[in-house]
Amino acid sequence: MSFHDLADQLMSRSDELAAFSEMDGGITRRYGTPPLKSAMELAAKWMREAGLETEFDAFGNLIGTYAAEEGSAESRPFVIGGHLDSVRDAGRYDGTLGVLSGIATIQHLHNEGKRLPFPVQLIAFADEEGLRYSTLLASRVWAGLPLDDRLEQPDEDGIPLVDAIRAFGGDSDALQHRETPEILGFLETHIEQGPILEQEDLPVGVVSSIVGSERAWITIRGMAGHAGTLPMTMRKDALAAAAEAVLAVEAVGRETEGLVATVGELYVRPGASNVVPGEVRLACEVRHASEETCVQALAEIRTRIQETCERRGTTLVWEPTAGYRGTAMDEGLRARLRDAIAAEGYRPLELTSGAGHDAINIARIAPVSMLFVRCKDGISHNPAESITAADAEAAIRVMVRFLDSLVSS
Ligand code: GLV
Ligand code: MN
Ligand code: MN
Repeated sequence: MSFHDLADQLMSRSDELAAFSEMDGGITRRYGTPPLKSAMELAAKWMREAGLETEFDAFGNLIGTYAAEEGSAESRPFVIGGHLDSVRDAGRYDGTLGVLSGIATIQHLHNEGKRLPFPVQLIAFADEEGLRYSTLLASRVWAGLPLDDRLEQPDEDGIPLVDAIRAFGGDSDALQHRETPEILGFLETHIEQGPILEQEDLPVGVVSSIVGSERAWITIRGMAGHAGTLPMTMRKDALAAAAEAVLAVEAVGRETEGLVATVGELYVRPGASNVVPGEVRLACEVRHASEETCVQALAEIRTRIQETCERRGTTLVWEPTAGYRGTAMDEGLRARLRDAIAAEGYRPLELTSGAGHDAINIARIAPVSMLFVRCKDGISHNPAESITAADAEAAIRVMVRFLDSLVSS
């Protein structure tokens, strides 16, 4: 099978996986749900066809292993990863591309009858987006990092994570005692989710680092009341206060060089057109290359919202939630990716990732790297996410060269 055919196969498999969804007419695959399980089972079948042995771990991550050449003494694998969960109404390449390009790369080795002097592992993580629980959860569990109190965390229907793990076929006791895996390194190929590669007319690029993120849940409480009878002067409208809060988040984002600041979720209670809102809960996140700037920006947002709440007679409850640290990619692996890209005839551009990725967790235990693939108009976390088969082919070629370079080290 040529690289061209492998890329065509990747594109049609992306379309096939897009059919597994919790919603009609779009892609939503949260952790622990039947559509995610079905997507993972199909990916497991493709992995086996590409010569990998497959298993599900105690969290429900899909792990494929391509054995080392006979007689090899190296038991530590080099790991390639991606994720098969999604955001709500997602695109079809975020996360999926890492899994499918990994399958294509190993399938190429398999078709050539080639084994490496070390095993190659391919992981399809079951929860990167954190749509149901906490962001980057699956790689955290897999890397043996502490779960703290996350097992008791409920989803929007009150189902604690521990129950979701069990329902997904996992084993929460086993993963509590998981040891740190010993691996040679990690690579994820991902759509860029931004406009730079397109502007630079390049199919692929190397990630230099991933920016950090700080997050908080904000609850604003006012007083519910009758929308027809409560005079404007007597209101403590929680949503009007929340509107100012959202604008404060945006203002801090605009005023701080390099910072992005977002409110992406907002719940109004009691939530009826004829009731003055009594309580609003909103999710706020900020991202910046510097952890200090993230912390300062969130503190500034909190001060501004506190002032709004005092002025409007509402109260503020501020709950910090799990963000993640800014993370540098391993210089040695970056150099290999740059060389592989140059050998394919492209300029090896390096770029920062504004999006979070599983490499953040895995960097705590091993050298990590990421390859970005051009995405149309820089659009992501949106059904319009789009890549070309030609760019997928470039990515697969670079990944094969990259693995080869690890052999000759
Ligand atoms: C993951 O997609 C994130 O950056 O939040
Ligand atoms: Mn994403
Ligand atoms: Mn992703």
